[in-house]
Amino acid sequence: MIEKLKQTMEQAGKEMDEAASLAEAEALRVRYLGKKGVVTEILRGMGKLDPEERKTLGQAANAARGELEERLNAKMEAFRLQEKQAGLASQTIDVTEPGIAMPPGARHVLSIATDEIIRVFAGMGFSVSEGPEVDTVFNNFDALNAPKNHPSRDMTDTFYISDDVLLRTQTSPVQIRTLLSQKPPIKIIAPGRCFRCDTPDATHSPMFQQVEGLAVDEGIAMSDLKGVLDRFAKSLFGSDARTRFRPHHFPFTEPSAEMDVSCFKCGGAGCRVCKDTGWIEILGCGMVHPNVLAVGGVDTERYTGFAFGMGVERIAMLKYEIDDIRLMYENDIRFIRQFL
Ligand code: DAH
Repeated sequence: MIEKLKQTMEQAGKEMDEAASLAEAEALRVRYLGKKGVVTEILRGMGKLDPEERKTLGQAANAARGELEERLNAKMEAFRLQEKQAGLASQTIDVTEPGIAMPPGARHVLSIATDEIIRVFAGMGFSVSEGPEVDTVFNNFDALNAPKNHPSRDMTDTFYISDDVLLRTQTSPVQIRTLLSQKPPIKIIAPGRCFRCDTPDATHSPMFQQVEGLAVDEGIAMSDLKGVLDRFAKSLFGSDARTRFRPHHFPFTEPSAEMDVSCFKCGGAGCRVCKDTGWIEILGCGMVHPNVLAVGGVDTERYTGFAFGMGVERIAMLKYEIDDIRLMYENDIRFIRQFL
C-alpha cells in the first residue's frame, strides 16, 4: 500500500505540473483530495491493516495529503493571480488617447430673442400668457374688431381648418382669451407661433413668431404705452436708442401706431440697415379698442388699456444682423452655432 501511495503521489504531481488553468487544478483537488478522492480511498482501506502498518501508512498518507494540498493551493493561487492580472490588463484605459468631442447644445437664436423680450417685460411687471396655435375665427378676427371683409381673412392669406377654426395669424387672440378669463388689472405678454399663407423669401415665412402685449387698468393712457415701449427699446438696443410713434391703423386699437427705433447701426445718420432713414420699424401698438374690451365684458367707462405686437424674427434679424429669415428655420448647424 505504501507503494500504491507513492505511485499515486507521483501521478498527482505530474498531473499538477500539467494543469493549465484554475479549473483543471480544481478538478485535480476533487480527484485526489475530495470525499471520494484517491488519497481518501487509500486512507479508508487502512482499516484492514495491522496496527503497526496502519500507523506507518497513516503517517505517510497524511503527510502526502498535506503536501498535495499545499502544492495545489499554491498552484491555484498562482492561477488566480494570473487571471486577475489578465483581467486588469484587458481593462486598461489609455488616458492619453484623444477623447470624442461632445459638442454642447445651444439655444436657437429665436429662443434667445424671445427670452430677452420676456426678460425686459417681466422686469416691468408683465406676466407670460400663452394661447393655442389653432384658434377660432372669432378670437382671431371677429372679437378683434376685424371687419368682415378685411383682406387678412381671405383664404389666400389665412390657413383655415374649417369655417370657424384656423391657424392663428397673430398672437392678438390671446388678448381676447385673457380678457374673457381675467379681470383688470391685466398686464401680460404672450409669445407664440403664428401662421400665414406667405411664400418664403428673405423676409417672409409661413410660420413665424410674435410677442403680444396687453395692459388693462384704470387710467391707462397713451403715455403709459409710450413709456413702456421706449423702455423696452432701450433695454434691447442700448440706452442711446430713441423711439418714435407713427400713426397707423389696426382694427383692434384706436388710436393705433407703429413704433420705430433709431438705427442701432448708424445711430440715426442713415445706413444700409435703416435704408438711409435713420429709423427702423419694430412693432405695432395702440390703445385697446372699446369694442375689444367689451367682448371681454370690461367696463369701458372705467377701464382703458394698451396693446402691442411684434415679430420676433424681425427683432432677431435686426439685433443679430441676419439678412434672411429662412436661415432661422433651416437649422444649418453652421448658422445655429453662431449664437452659442
Ligand atoms: N397683430 C398685429 C399683426 O400681426 C400686431 C399688433 C399691432 C398687435 C398692434 C397689437 C397691436 O396688439 O396693438 O400685425
